[in-house]
Amino acid sequence: MLQLRSHPIPVVPPTVVEILSDDERDALRAEIKGLLRAQDAVMVAHYYTDPEVQRLCDDTGGHVSDSLDMARFGHEHPASTLLVAGVRFMGETAKILNPEKRVLMPDLEAECSLDLGCPPAAFAAFCDAHPDRTVVVYANTSAAVKARSDWVVTSSSALEVVAFLRDRGEKILWAPDKYLGAYVQEKTEADMVLWDGACIVHEEFKARELEALRRTHPDAKVLVHPESPAGVVAQADVVGSTTALIKAARDLPVEKLIVATDRGIFYKMQQAAPGKTLIEAPTAGHGATCRSCGHCPWMAMNGLRKVAASLRSGANEVLVDPEIGRRALRPIERLLDFSASRRTVIYGANDA
Ligand code: 13P
Ligand code: SF4
Repeated sequence: MLQLRSHPIPVVPPTVVEILSDDERDALRAEIKGLLRAQDAVMVAHYYTDPEVQRLCDDTGGHVSDSLDMARFGHEHPASTLLVAGVRFMGETAKILNPEKRVLMPDLEAECSLDLGCPPAAFAAFCDAHPDRTVVVYANTSAAVKARSDWVVTSSSALEVVAFLRDRGEKILWAPDKYLGAYVQEKTEADMVLWDGACIVHEEFKARELEALRRTHPDAKVLVHPESPAGVVAQADVVGSTTALIKAARDLPVEKLIVATDRGIFYKMQQAAPGKTLIEAPTAGHGATCRSCGHCPWMAMNGLRKVAASLRSGANEVLVDPEIGRRALRPIERLLDFSASRRTVIYGANDA
């Protein structure tokens, strides 16, 4: 059952990619390295951020990863400041897990359409209407929505957590991504009601055009993030989190891969699969709106200039109301404990 939309469709900013001269880039890299050292800070970045941010993160002992692993790394690292390059829910998750640490972000306006499309008050009303259901929310939500949940999951853990709850006889209320929710529901056959939210990047991948692209490259395997529509997921050889897709690109014994996720992932995917040809899945075509054209406008807000500015000034500190943070911590810790016990990764899931 899908919740009827009673909340606004998020306003999507244009995707603006940072352009730097070689001299400016080198100067920023040197400055950021010094600031990180001086401030006992470490960078944590998502795979969709600017390749220069990912490169610097690697070069300074930070960690580039998916949303689950970003949370885990920030929690385990001893640095007193975390510079989180990603979108706001990632910074908030870091702060909830580490209230004693200073958490900075390059840009606090870096949102996520799933988070924006799930306002806490409307979500609380949805939960109140289904008091018999276990509330499972995707990590791409605000601290207040997490605080109202029983479980937080990420794309790398959703299937296993929901299967676990199903086996305990629990009925699920799922939010906010309707595509990931429908995918999990189909795979687990759990009793689920779904919030009507979507990722504006993955929603744009086009099934019909993907079929045509596959005909042009019959030797390619197709990698799909499960935030994509069902017609796209149905054509996947591998469905999985960003980390799982990178591992699949490395491990599959083919030379060509069609990739249905944000193109920011190509930086790490190409490193993991050198020599292989990576082809973007189509976002243009029948019924296309192309608001993001395969690159998240909010992830693109993370460039070297803003990383430096944030460290220089101490601005853009992520703050979470302590009481909300305390309530949001339990479902996040449940996820970390669960994934540590299961070592969860969705991998090769389309034939699972
Ligand atoms: P991952 O957890 O797979 O990195 O996904 C996070 C995200 O925002 C994808 O759009
Ligand atoms: Fe949110 Fe989609 Fe951007 Fe990920 S890619 S942060 S799900 S809008």
